[in-house]
Amino acid sequence: MEVLKEISDWVTISNFKPDSIPQESLDRIVSAAQRAPSAKNRQPWRLVAVRKRDVLEKIYSAAYMEEHVGKAPVIIAVCTTNVDYKMPNGQLAYPIDIGISLAFMMVQARAEGLGAHTITTYDEEQVRQILTVPYQMRVVALLLLGYAEETPLQRERRPLDQLLAYDHW
Ligand SMILES: Cc1cc2nc3c(=O)[nH]c(=O)nc-3n(C[C@H](O)[C@H](O)[C@H](O)COP(=O)(O)O)c2cc1C
Repeated sequence: MEVLKEISDWVTISNFKPDSIPQESLDRIVSAAQRAPSAKNRQPWRLVAVRKRDVLEKIYSAAYMEEHVGKAPVIIAVCTTNVDYKMPNGQLAYPIDIGISLAFMMVQARAEGLGAHTITTYDEEQVRQILTVPYQMRVVALLLLGYAEETPLQRERRPLDQLLAYDHW
């Protein structure tokens, strides 16, 4: 079954080359987030792209010095406003909104020939302070970006018949 190559080839990259990312690629990745749909079109995402070595080092420290975080030449802190906004089904909107914006950025990163890695293993308070993120917001995830230094094997997924039923559960 054919899906977009950027999706069918998806694999998280943990080993990055030190090379910086072209500004045009970063711009297109951010434009992909901008285009993402969100509940009531509230667009709750706010992004902080970290490129300076000294700030990257601080984020690395706030992310418990995990090796892959230390290697990424660009880290985008994906933050949210509207932390309390609920959808008509009573559920919080921001995890979905931010998740979709992340997914759009990850697919665009692949199209740019870049590797990407979403991480949530960090001290949010420290990241907030390093990047001066206002208190009414949350830092939902960090997106590591860079040229891949590795070609990892794809991780397995459940077969389609385990994730889809037609017409009833
Ligand atoms: C919401 C989310 C949170 C994640 N948090 C982390 C993390 O904290 N540390 C990490 O190494 N990987 C993290 N990952 C990456 C996943 O472990 C990875 O996507 C998963 O193992 C599947 O591998 P694949 O992306 O190569 O297919 C996260 C991914 C997502 C989508």
